[in-house]
Amino acid sequence: MTESRFIPNSYKNLPASGKSSWRSPSNIALVKYWGKRENQIPANPSISFTLNSCFTTTTVSYEKLKEKQHQFSFDFLFEGSPKEEFKPKIQTFLTRIQAYLPFLTEYHLVIESSNSFPHSSGIASSASGMSALALCLMDMEKELNPTIHLDFFNQKASFLARLGSGSACRSVEGPLVQWGSYRGIENSSDLYGVPYPYITHAVFQDFCDTVLLVDKGEKTVSSTVGHGLMHHHPFAEQRFQQAHSNLDKLKTIFETGDLEGFIQVVESEALTLHAMMLTSSPYFILMKPNTLTIINKIWAFRGESNSHLCFTLDAGANVHVLYPAEEKTVVLKFIKEELAPLCQNGQFIEDQVGTGAIKLI
Ligand code: DP6
Repeated sequence: MTESRFIPNSYKNLPASGKSSWRSPSNIALVKYWGKRENQIPANPSISFTLNSCFTTTTVSYEKLKEKQHQFSFDFLFEGSPKEEFKPKIQTFLTRIQAYLPFLTEYHLVIESSNSFPHSSGIASSASGMSALALCLMDMEKELNPTIHLDFFNQKASFLARLGSGSACRSVEGPLVQWGSYRGIENSSDLYGVPYPYITHAVFQDFCDTVLLVDKGEKTVSSTVGHGLMHHHPFAEQRFQQAHSNLDKLKTIFETGDLEGFIQVVESEALTLHAMMLTSSPYFILMKPNTLTIINKIWAFRGESNSHLCFTLDAGANVHVLYPAEEKTVVLKFIKEELAPLCQNGQFIEDQVGTGAIKLI
């Protein structure tokens, strides 16, 4: 599978104007993407739960310019106000995808975006934001070529989203999406995410994720810089191999509903991600003291209650607490009483596994 498949033929009869709106969710990786090559090609395959309540809503209004431009013409509004500081990231994204949507320079775009989760909550909005934008731009392509199939539409939306932010390619569909070439999944690709193709036990269909907002500040090291530090990392090769073998293990775990096995893989992945940061050159730490206190409390509670909760971490201090929906009452009580006091302003977000992006207009 090559990128050329996503380069369209030239179009005639471009519409004068139009509008598209999508709501796209965030996702939480179980096997982590950490390390990439040129053009957003992941160093190892990853898999994530698509979320439901943490999402970005994006509307793109487009109007044909009198003449095709050499530059992109766009305005960006975040939560109703122009946001100049977000424009360079969008500019980079548009430049990367230009070859795949060549009509973009013929339009002026007004991109309006908002998040369901609090601004600067430390929740990465790039996955939901880039996937929502990619889906709106795919709607433009569909307007020009209505014969596009749903499979191609989703694949190309994921392909484009990846060029904005790697993890964004796992936000188009749900409930489980795998991204990156992996021998265990025949149609897996480094270029886009694919819905997990195997049998998944019912317990994983509505798994809960409560996101504990431990630290809402700006990250000291961005994901992009962190990915870069996997080049020449002393443990890189072993780590990339480990991601493959953890995906192998998850196949049986997903099929049988083996919660003990799930906990082992997911927590090990989270700690390995941060171990890679601790052993990079330069090294860095994104966890905060309360991240560790929460992890220890989760382990203690699991030991004494027989609950099947576990944690995972992104590239930040926040903790995602994952647990089966049928244990929600018990686990939420524990979270409210013991973990919420360790969050900034006691804040946490209740979420669960979702089915992917939704078209609004
Ligand atoms: C730790 O997708 O944010 O969340 O491709 O540079 O935009 P870029 O990185 P990004 O990296 C996310 C890394 C992670 C793990 C994961 O989601 O798999």
